[in-house]
Amino acid sequence: MVKRIRAFDGAAIHAGNRGLTIDHAAVEAEVDALLERMTLAQQINEIRGRQAQSIQGLYYAGGDPELGLPSYKMVDGPRGARAGHATAFPVAIARAATFDVELERRVGYAIGLEVAARGGNVLLAPTINLLRHPGWGRAQETYSEDPVHMGAMAVAFVSGAQNHVLTSPKHFAANNLENTRFELSAEIDRRTLHELYLPHFRRVVQEAAAASIMSAYNRVNGVYCGEHAELLTRILRDDWGFKGFVESDWFLGTRSTAKALNAGLDIEMPAPYRFDDTKLEAALASGELTEAVITRSARHAVYQKIAWDLANQPAPDPGMVECRAHLELAREAAQKSMVLLKNDGVLPLEATPRLRLALVGDLADTANLGDRGSSFVSPSRVVTPRQGIEAGADGAEVTCFPSDADLSALAAFDVAVVIAGLTYREEGEFIPTAQEEAEGGELARGGDRASLALPAAQQTLIERVSDVAQRTVVVLEGGSAIVVRDWIDRVDALLMAWYPGCEGGHALADVLFGRVDASGRLPVTFPRADEDLLPWDITALEVPHDLLHGYRYLDHRDTPAEFPFGFGLSYATIELSASRIERTEGGFQVLVPLVNTGRRAGTTVVQLYVGCGESSVFRPVKELKGFGRAALAAGEAAELEIAIPDADLRYFDAEAGEWRLEACDYVFSVGTSSADVATVASWRFDGAGWRQGP
Ligand code: GLC
Repeated sequence: MVKRIRAFDGAAIHAGNRGLTIDHAAVEAEVDALLERMTLAQQINEIRGRQAQSIQGLYYAGGDPELGLPSYKMVDGPRGARAGHATAFPVAIARAATFDVELERRVGYAIGLEVAARGGNVLLAPTINLLRHPGWGRAQETYSEDPVHMGAMAVAFVSGAQNHVLTSPKHFAANNLENTRFELSAEIDRRTLHELYLPHFRRVVQEAAAASIMSAYNRVNGVYCGEHAELLTRILRDDWGFKGFVESDWFLGTRSTAKALNAGLDIEMPAPYRFDDTKLEAALASGELTEAVITRSARHAVYQKIAWDLANQPAPDPGMVECRAHLELAREAAQKSMVLLKNDGVLPLEATPRLRLALVGDLADTANLGDRGSSFVSPSRVVTPRQGIEAGADGAEVTCFPSDADLSALAAFDVAVVIAGLTYREEGEFIPTAQEEAEGGELARGGDRASLALPAAQQTLIERVSDVAQRTVVVLEGGSAIVVRDWIDRVDALLMAWYPGCEGGHALADVLFGRVDASGRLPVTFPRADEDLLPWDITALEVPHDLLHGYRYLDHRDTPAEFPFGFGLSYATIELSASRIERTEGGFQVLVPLVNTGRRAGTTVVQLYVGCGESSVFRPVKELKGFGRAALAAGEAAELEIAIPDADLRYFDAEAGEWRLEACDYVFSVGTSSADVATVASWRFDGAGWRQGP
């Protein structure tokens, strides 16, 4: 019997998620009784943060010893606990490149544990804004350009972390551009909003019981998210059944008093500016605001404190922070995240005393963890590329060359490995502080990237090396797509390492020396040129959104990518043979036979795309509807099972305001990237039943 691998095992992914085991009827009754006892002042105390700055990384909200109510103690962020020292995991987009939901659950579990060990009870993560354009400054914080991929990684993270703490998926919604985030309006039609920019938020609420949601700074169709009744109440609560609380993003995330509360914002973070006593009293006196609305937000604010019994949460042993198991997990995540984009055979390197390896570039000696904004994590130690490669060289000669070194000697080495890419200076959260920048501060943030090309000095370094070296391997660090067209033909191998976290150097050596397979796959399209992607203006204040970006956009224009979504090479050779698709109760099951025909263990990531023929509405050429990662020993065979419910094949009928399973042809394709797929079958839905097409 061939091994069967399930692409998404919900029971395993959601195990231990405390948000899924709440007795809501009992909590409702307890909250009702509590609210009966609460004065208006005590209710107001619960709907706002307590201080503008964090205290040892913790942002406090509400809390009343007299009522036995603890404070929320909120801690960033998506790659680790931003509180004291903590394990710095690879950035989220790197983990997304693993396409490994089980692994992402374990990372969420570990980060949740470290947040709790630091005294926190709310993790301000994951960031799940769709990567509409790879130039977004915070691309590294999110998972994907695709909502199905995003949703799967997000629910895995949330369910892992909610074994220990509440989570707060963010930023709701459509926070897709950084530099103008406080002002911009995302102009999104209703269908695009529901089909592309909301599905992953709906999944974390309905599948993973996300305990809170952070609203975004930006506007959607002209209305600030922090006062957007359609988003915060009608969709989030009325449609999706959300039971937690909505907290604003920090400072400018709350734009008003009555309008925000009436729309459904529950907690102003990090401190009372618009939810302060004076403004609340004025709003009540003017009749703009009622006490009932304050009580409604206070109910939402205290609900999870009761549901999660936060008053009785023992803090885990602080020794869990940066424990050996977490460092090993960070290394595993980094190993599985790295994407081999080009390899003419130079990789894997053979780590023997005969190997003479030149390691080039200042980044080889740099702890390059990525953004230094709210997602920053400060580990006790970072293994740099140099440290990892020297530790893993097994006697090979490793000679380092800083970026400004004379490189003429490179010709004498068997291979030159260049560490190049981006840092927090070129991309990241945009919190411009003139003083910081004036003083060249370490905290100056990068914001959005107008261009996806490397900084000139990095490109020049690659060219200087490839002019002299016998073989050139480029390792790119960064948080999103990089345009490589100008120099890719000059180099022999290219590995995307992302911001690989505190164990990144060890993981890099593991991949370069072939101790693990190269198994990452791209969660974002790498275009050949900036102009191949949708128009991108980082100064824009009105940003049109539609159904096409990333691979959807390139497919529609029949434009090839440099490296397509879902792409990545392996050292192993795993073959997909003819997939089968079977009708199940209410959906389909796609079975993909795999066999490792090579001599080494390896991994592949199988993707299922669906396109629609004869649709009555505009559709992207195809859309990802499922994926699975499979690791196989040499010679091993397996069958990957991807389940697709009919509901996932619907489109959103904006006129009717509902999801519709259209009578048309559904073409199922399977492959190993968005550009390398083969049609498995076509099924026709006639409005009542299904039949397999020709
Ligand atoms: C920032 C970010 C948000 C973060 C919050 C607290 O402005 O937008 O992601 O969680 O403030 O640091």
